[in-house]
Amino acid sequence: MECIEPRIPNPDTGYGKLVCMPKEPSERLSVLLPRARIARRVRELGRRISRDFRGERVLLVGVLKGACIFLSDLSREISLDATFDFLAAASYGQSSESSGQVRLVKDLDSSIEGRNVILVEDILDTGVTLNYLVAMLRRRRPKALKVAVLLDKAERRIQPVKVDYLGFKIPNQFVVGYGLDYAERHRNLKDVCVVKIQDEAKGQRSETIKKKARRQGSKKIGK
Ligand code: PRP
Repeated sequence: MECIEPRIPNPDTGYGKLVCMPKEPSERLSVLLPRARIARRVRELGRRISRDFRGERVLLVGVLKGACIFLSDLSREISLDATFDFLAAASYGQSSESSGQVRLVKDLDSSIEGRNVILVEDILDTGVTLNYLVAMLRRRRPKALKVAVLLDKAERRIQPVKVDYLGFKIPNQFVVGYGLDYAERHRNLKDVCVVKIQDEAKGQRSETIKKKARRQGSKKIGK
């Protein structure tokens, strides 16, 4: 593990190095979306949601685990009576290509019938997960169902998804931070970063990380 030297951040352009974030020696992280840019966009999305649902209550439904940070920031930019709920989903199978099937790992705690629901996701990739979740929630007859997504890797889409509140379109690169993980790590980075694994030829890539990369092959690694 290594602790990188702090550098003065430039919130608009990014700043190449992270401040004191332990990482594997084989990992190279570079900032794709600096925290200030994310904050500005999240504020805009919060204002739009507040306008669209003026005078009403909303239920923010976060998809665990990745969406938890986006949801907590977005919710604080929404000037409405808002409540939270969470669900979790997983793809069937371990292969690098999406099976197209999703299973619900954790369901909501309460009914959404007749309520204004905003489904909050960190990243939209193939679209398989969101398609499944939107169809499932629609069957429960909410008053309104909207989708908020921070990152869209449109290049990877195999199923169309309508997004109502989008943060950023991003290139097909493996991203971490602001809730997104690599082998469960880096979710707590304040910026969205691209992670690249170096030194693979030297065998320095840990088995845990290799397994995660295989598991996420269809989701976050361009193939
Ligand atoms: C990510 C993300 C979405 C899904 C998107 O979850 O949060 O749920 O992948 O991929 P898709 O569009 O190809 O279906 P992940 O499985 O990485 O779980 P996590 O949120 O716990 O990190």
